[in-house]
Amino acid sequence: MKVANSILERSYRNGIGQALAAGLVSAGIVAAVVLSQPDRYRAEIRILSAGDLSADQVQALATTREVAASAVSLPALSGYNLSAADFFRDTDTEQLLQTDLLLPATGLKLGVTDPNPGRAASRALAWAQALCAAAADGTGQAGGACYDPNSALPAKVDNYLWWKLLAATLLGSILGYGGWLGRNRWNKKENARMAKKDAVKSKSSETAQALIRKLKTGKARIGVIGLGYVGLPLVDVFGRAGYSVVGIDVDAKKIEALRKGKSYIEDVPSAHIAALVRKGALLATTDFSVVETLDALSICVPTPLRKTGDPDLSFIVNVTEAIAKFLHPGMVIVLESTSYPGTTRDLLLPRCEARGLKVGQDLFLAFSPERVDPGRKDWTTVNTPKVIGGITPQCLEVALAYYGRAIEELVPVSSAEAAEMSKLLENTFRAVNIGLVNEVAIICDRLGLDVWEVIEAAATKPFGFMKFTPGPGLGGHCIPIDPLYLSWKLKAVNYNARFIELASEINTNMPRYVVGKVQDALNRNRKSINGSRILVLGVAYKPNVSDLRESPALDVIGLLRQKGATVNYHDPYVAEVRHESFQLTSVADLESAVGQADCVVITTNHDSYPWKKILQWSRLIVDTRNALGDEGRVSDKVVRL
Ligand SMILES: NC(=O)c1ccc[n+]([C@@H]2O[C@H](COP(=O)([O-])OP(=O)(O)OC[C@H]3O[C@@H](n4cnc5c(N)ncnc54)[C@H](O)[C@@H]3O)[C@@H](O)[C@H]2O)c1
Repeated sequence: MKVANSILERSYRNGIGQALAAGLVSAGIVAAVVLSQPDRYRAEIRILSAGDLSADQVQALATTREVAASAVSLPALSGYNLSAADFFRDTDTEQLLQTDLLLPATGLKLGVTDPNPGRAASRALAWAQALCAAAADGTGQAGGACYDPNSALPAKVDNYLWWKLLAATLLGSILGYGGWLGRNRWNKKENARMAKKDAVKSKSSETAQALIRKLKTGKARIGVIGLGYVGLPLVDVFGRAGYSVVGIDVDAKKIEALRKGKSYIEDVPSAHIAALVRKGALLATTDFSVVETLDALSICVPTPLRKTGDPDLSFIVNVTEAIAKFLHPGMVIVLESTSYPGTTRDLLLPRCEARGLKVGQDLFLAFSPERVDPGRKDWTTVNTPKVIGGITPQCLEVALAYYGRAIEELVPVSSAEAAEMSKLLENTFRAVNIGLVNEVAIICDRLGLDVWEVIEAAATKPFGFMKFTPGPGLGGHCIPIDPLYLSWKLKAVNYNARFIELASEINTNMPRYVVGKVQDALNRNRKSINGSRILVLGVAYKPNVSDLRESPALDVIGLLRQKGATVNYHDPYVAEVRHESFQLTSVADLESAVGQADCVVITTNHDSYPWKKILQWSRLIVDTRNALGDEGRVSDKVVRL
């Protein structure tokens, strides 16, 4: 049994087994086909004596008796098996038959083939009778021609079955062997290809796994480039998660402050920074060569608009070029700056790979948008779910390990582009809804309705409505800008993002609308903007922060100044404002500034403002934020948006 098995095994290893099997299968198929054909029967009748018939006589007999197509079997003549017609055409054979027939040819057989067994037998008998009749000499046995009538028993035949089976076996075996050879060769090639792929994969997964281990155990050294509203909170969060962090920025003043343990961002307490610096867990530098020593890097540089309204990607490009020569295998880089879908792949990937590193194999690249809302206490960098998308699945795996140590909830998505787009959807959603509610404010004004009352009433719906409030326009680094990154990208693919464009148009015009309100309000007091003293309250783009970027208050100030007003501002968070066309400092005494102003314009409703007192001290107020609430609604001194 063992020997048989080993023979079988060996024969299969060198293809013989396969060849034989294929041969047998082919023969089986042929046999099945042949045997499924209509049955053919052969009846052979034994001629006991052919008498003295000549060949010509037999031929003539065969023709007249319509048995020309029948086979005549002459076993005595060493296996001749010819049709009667062929037999009589061949001179040599004629000779032999003649000789044989003239002999008392016992054992001579005469065969007839027919699809019907009964007909085969009766035709054989008829043929034998004809032979005898032709040879009859009156006694019925002249020349000795006689036959054995009992021998005409028909049997199933296929003359070529064995040849067909042999041919099928041979052909099948050849094809089987050929197939085995081909498959063998393909297998070898495929194995080589898989082995190569496996080698690359195992190398990349080794690199990734080593980095993941470092990240998960907190042994990785982290870098954050761009230490502003996004970058500094991230430094704080990574530092508190136990990582050793390096903060990199081109602004030497920020670096200096951090080295002294001082924070310049409201959301990051100086105590946190000081603690990290003391522990040696935070290093701040302007030197990009430190990237050489890092395992992970987050890029949080600005992505503003150019004067033309197009995205300014120069910060991302500059940083990527500055770090390129310090990149090394076993590193993860995550872009956090908001940008159009495709930025990570278009701008970072080629620069990272320029020095021969393969992303997804040696180096891991991902995008994770920041959702920080400066000034917010309930949702912070740590507890706000964070979306992450990698350039490859391996990139995502590493990036998740990187952020997983510091952020409570991560939201992996299938690609860097999906992560980039999710951020733009969030901000476009806000920009469009603010645009809508700003237009509703204009509509309500035309209809003589109180927009704030309308919004509050609509907001009582417990489902399907989300409350947004109007204001003097959009501000901050994100909402007025990010959607335009998307519409810019879409222009490149011939698509006009209409909601974005329309919302942007309405929101951009709001400062002008507010100035119109100021004009109307002053008009009530028989005054013009020109020559009036106007106090703007709150210049930061939103309450309780010092962030001035894109603040609509600055546009309001600029427009009022253009119309000849003397404008001052007060903001507890912003001591000084430097704008393209003016430079102002916050008035020191709020009460006297409010009291002296012909009109107070509330542009930002910081919580610290004493609204009731402001209402008392003032002569006229334009309230763009409903800061005065019901008291403002009923007061003659107040004009609301
Ligand atoms: N501020 C937000 O509320 C907020 C929220 C989510 C996303 N974002 C996005 O995050 C990104 C950063 O925004 P931010 O508000 O932190 O900006 P920011 O201006 O507060 O900070 C950017 C920092 O990058 C530094 N910087 C500029 N060029 C640099 C360079 N080449 N190398 C190193 N440092 C450089 C600047 O000096 C600055 O300190 C932007 O893409 C923004 O859209 C911002």
